[in-house]
This record gives sequence, structure tokens and C-alpha cells, in this order.
Amino acid sequence: MSVEIAARRVPLPGVAAPPVIVDGMHKIYPGGVEAVRGISFEVADGEIFGLLGPNGAGKTTTFGVLTTLVEPTRGRAFVAGHDVVAFPLGVRRAIGVAFQDSVLDNEFSGRENLRLHARLWNLARRDAEQRIDALLALMDLDQRADDNVRTYSGGMRRRLELGRALLANPRVLFLDEPTVGLDPSVRDEIWALVRQLQREEGVTIVLSTHYLEEAEDVCDRVAIMNRGELVALGSPAELIETLGAELVELQIDGDPTAAARELGITLQRASPPLVRRDLVSIAVSDDAADLARQIAAIRSDGLGIIGSTLRRTSLADVFAHRTGRPLDEELGR
Ligand SMILES: Nc1ncnc2c1ncn2[C@@H]1O[C@H](COP(=O)(O)OP(=O)(O)O)[C@@H](O)[C@H]1O
Ligand SMILES: [Mg+2]
Repeated sequence: MSVEIAARRVPLPGVAAPPVIVDGMHKIYPGGVEAVRGISFEVADGEIFGLLGPNGAGKTTTFGVLTTLVEPTRGRAFVAGHDVVAFPLGVRRAIGVAFQDSVLDNEFSGRENLRLHARLWNLARRDAEQRIDALLALMDLDQRADDNVRTYSGGMRRRLELGRALLANPRVLFLDEPTVGLDPSVRDEIWALVRQLQREEGVTIVLSTHYLEEAEDVCDRVAIMNRGELVALGSPAELIETLGAELVELQIDGDPTAAARELGITLQRASPPLVRRDLVSIAVSDDAADLARQIAAIRSDGLGIIGSTLRRTSLADVFAHRTGRPLDEELGR
């Protein structure tokens, strides 16, 4: 009996389905820019999921589709069990959104900004006041709640944005580049807050960032995008493991591309060496000492290796190895 029921189950996402399902999503903007070229992934309940990649990768477009602001050209997406195209209202009721552009009103205090949005959401006044107090405390803004947001620092504004996005108790929270434009120490503060939200609010969080190194610590799983395509999907640890936990970085005197080609042929490793400026990096999974010996032997062949260092592999390295281009070049650094 139960087998029969299971067999007849319609494969459409319901309440128990993953909160976000993206299935072959394409977006071509009018004018022909192919911003997203057929990506698929799922986000599990309660996880922090990072959409990573350099500028122009298609992160904001993907967020646009998932938050019903952008219509996909092809493919399907479901958020909180609702088809984003067929039932956008259902999606909107289930999500909180903080986008790159601030929607805070400079003429009002932090508390008043939250009240304004509570009214937009039609929250009952009594509930709203309680929720606003709780969120101001959670965002560590209770001391400055009645000051004009014009007087807030960048970090405080961002925290207020997060609070605003959480007002209606969303099931899924979308944060597009929550730390862009902030100082490094303030960025850490925001990431710590994002983790706290996951723990204390039990909300599923989908965030985007081009700071791949920072996402490593905060995200349970990530999807790395480049030029509209998904180039990697998994937990940061898994992705780093596929490359090797450590990298040997060689400084080359001469043509690093030629040196990388030579090293690739000689070393026969799973991931070919990668060139970044005058550096050639080679992933090491098991025996770093063995690699060091091989490199020492090659050194005599006149490749112009003038120094070598060993360092931890990062998600930026995963990006570079999957795309064949270093992330900082892609970011124009
Ligand atoms: N409204 C739009 N109209 C036309 N092209 C767009 C629009 N929004 C974004 N794009 C283009 O789509 C590509 C992906 O942009 P975007 O999704 O903003 O990437 P990211 O957020 O990763 O920087 C870029 O080439 C961008 O110029
Ligand atoms: Mg963007």
C-alpha cells in the first residue's frame, strides 16, 4: 500500500521539498546578454548556501529569478515549494531579501524604518513591535534604534537591512553581497551575524559574494559560478579536497606559462599547474615531500624556480583550477 502511494507521488516540490530548487535555469536579457546559462542546484533546509563568483558571473540575476524579480528565459525554480513563475506571491510571502542597493530611508530612525516595512508587510502592530524589538537586539542596534539611519556606520546599516529582511519570519533569507563595500573587520562581523541567524532563527540562508575566501568559513555548501555557468558545487571542504588540501606555489624567473607546461608534463598530476602572474601553483593532496623532491629535481632543468612556498588551498584556487583563470584576474585586481 505505502509502496503504491510512494510510486504515485507527484514529483512536484511540496512543503517537505528543499526550500530552493533550481532546475536548468537560463536567463537571456533583452539585448542578448546570456547572464545565466543553464544552472541547477538545491539548497537544503536550514543551511547557509553561498552563490560565489566574480562580478558578472550571474549571481544577482539568479537571485532575481529566485526572488521573482526576474523572469527566467528557460528552466524552472522553486522556492519554499512554489514555482517562481507560476506563483510568485507564494514565494514572496516565504522569503526575506536584502539586496546590494539599500532600501533604508535616511529620513527615519532604525526603528521607524522597521515599522515602515512591517506596515508594508501588513504585520499586526502588536506582533510587529515585539518582533522589531527582538530584531534590533539581535542586530545589536538597540542602543541606536531611535537615531536617524543617516548617522549609522556602513556596518550598522547592513545589520539593519538584515533585520528588515527578517521582519516577516521568512523561511528563506536571500542576501546579495551582504558584505560588499565594508571594511574587512566589519565584514567579519556581518558573517558572524549570518551564522548567528542560522542558529537562532533557524532560517535557510542563500547568500552571494565575490569574496570567495570569506565564504569558505560561513557557508555549509557553495555553488561557484563563472560567466553564467556553475563550475563547482559542494561543501568548501569537499571542493578543496578534490584539488588537494595544500598548494605548492613556485616563483618563476622567466616565462611562467612555459614553466607550468613543463611541470605539468613532468609531474603528471590530476590538476595541471596554474599560472598567476609570475607564480605557478601545483596542488598537493598526499605527499608534499615527494612533490618537493620532484620539483627539486626539475629545478636543475633550468626552469628558473627562484622560490617555493606551501600554503592551504582556498575556494579561490578551486575557482582558478575549474575555470583555468585566477579569480583575481577575473575580478580585475
Ligand atoms: N538588467 C540587465 N540587462 C542586461 N544585462 C544585464 C542586466 N543585469 C545584469 N546583466 C548582465 O548579466 C551578466 C550577469 O550579471 P549579474 O547577474 O549582475 O552578475 P553578478 O551579480 O554575479 O555580478 C553581466 O554581464 C551583466 O552585465
Ligand atoms: Mg551582483
